[in-house]
Amino acid sequence: MGRPTRRETPASDSVPIRIAVIPGDGIGGEVVAEAVSLAHDLRSEGHLRAELEELDWGAERLLATGRAVPGDGFDRLRTFDAILAGAFGDPRVPDGEYMREILLGLRFQLDLFINMRPVRCMHERLNPLKTASADEIDMVIVRENTEGLYCGVGGLVHEHSTDETALQEMVVTRRAVERIVRAAFEIAASRPRCKVTLVDKANALPFAGRLWQKVFAEVAASFPRAATEHLYADVAAMEMVRNPGRFDVIVTENLFGDLLSDLAAMLGGGLGLAASGNIHPGRVSMFEPVHGSAPDIAGTGTACPLAALGSFGLLLRHVRRDDLADALDGAIADTVVAGEVTPDLGGRCTTSEVGRAVRRRVLERLAA
Ligand code: NAD
Ligand code: IPM
Ligand code: MN
Repeated sequence: MGRPTRRETPASDSVPIRIAVIPGDGIGGEVVAEAVSLAHDLRSEGHLRAELEELDWGAERLLATGRAVPGDGFDRLRTFDAILAGAFGDPRVPDGEYMREILLGLRFQLDLFINMRPVRCMHERLNPLKTASADEIDMVIVRENTEGLYCGVGGLVHEHSTDETALQEMVVTRRAVERIVRAAFEIAASRPRCKVTLVDKANALPFAGRLWQKVFAEVAASFPRAATEHLYADVAAMEMVRNPGRFDVIVTENLFGDLLSDLAAMLGGGLGLAASGNIHPGRVSMFEPVHGSAPDIAGTGTACPLAALGSFGLLLRHVRRDDLADALDGAIADTVVAGEVTPDLGGRCTTSEVGRAVRRRVLERLAA
């Protein structure tokens, strides 16, 4: 269990924010470097007091030492205010167990139960749909982040025989559903449309589905202003393409949230833009791009850093620096609109050129 972060009161600049930075593998380091440069600029211009500490968790460490995470790793993380992570996954370690140790370890051991994945299409140029305009695409996926099919409950029997059988069980507790549904309603309450869509698969998975639906109805009763609806996960995927404007806040189980958030990311222009927060309100939380380590483009200097920068923006909100987060979000949007983007978003810029363009605009906004 995590303990409360030191930063429970509104940010005063008297205590520096302590940020652990875990760049990870592949493009993780390339995109996180841009956010770290921004933190340094904010610090040297007097906008932010922060201490950043880089941790070498990842494939390189695993291959060199046999351990991707040092023994006291997760305990040490609890002493920080927030964590900025890059991405994990390396073709030299195909099984990826170490990646689950890091990513799911962060989410489970720090009890980061809210996986918040906002998507907004910032320019018509990035809109892949014929069925909706860019300004209709504005949603937040609130993904349950501590259980479901991700718990690692299961096993193999009759391995290496023709009867080989794998079990991978879905765990759904009232406690976890209750707190994530409540978080979704609270997020919706802070948005103009205040609508929550429950996405499940109760028609095929009735035990889990019924519990989600029952708890959703109970929690909804204490948010009378909120509009609610229910969709099965397959229909939700279809509706995201057919009519994305119907979505405001989506709350869903861990795996459905994983799948839908990559789909939603494409509606916003692509994975290069998709930011996320793994959050436990009031405690150390972790912020990372939705995308992975992208070995296909690692080392080419073409990875889009906007998802990492957007994740740093969510981190700044977590430590109650909405002023800086607003400047950063505005700078990202302006940079996208100006077309100063990497090839995945239709531009010709390099990772560091995009990072520089965003930093310049952040500082301009803060000086204005
Ligand atoms: P991926 O997200 O790494 O890449 C999917 C596609 O999107 C690739 O074509 C890639 O080039 C492109 N892409 C991703 N991020 C981009 C960016 N910032 N700029 C431009 N293009 C970008 O998914 P994958 O290839 O399936 O996975 C690679 C590895 O990452 C695997 O080991 C996977 O398990 C892992 N992974 C890790 C995380 C994480 O650390 N949170 C998330 C997803 C996948
Ligand atoms: C994500 C990733 C992870 C997940 C993987 C890499 C374990 O896809 O953060 O979306 O499934 O949660
Ligand atoms: Mn994913």
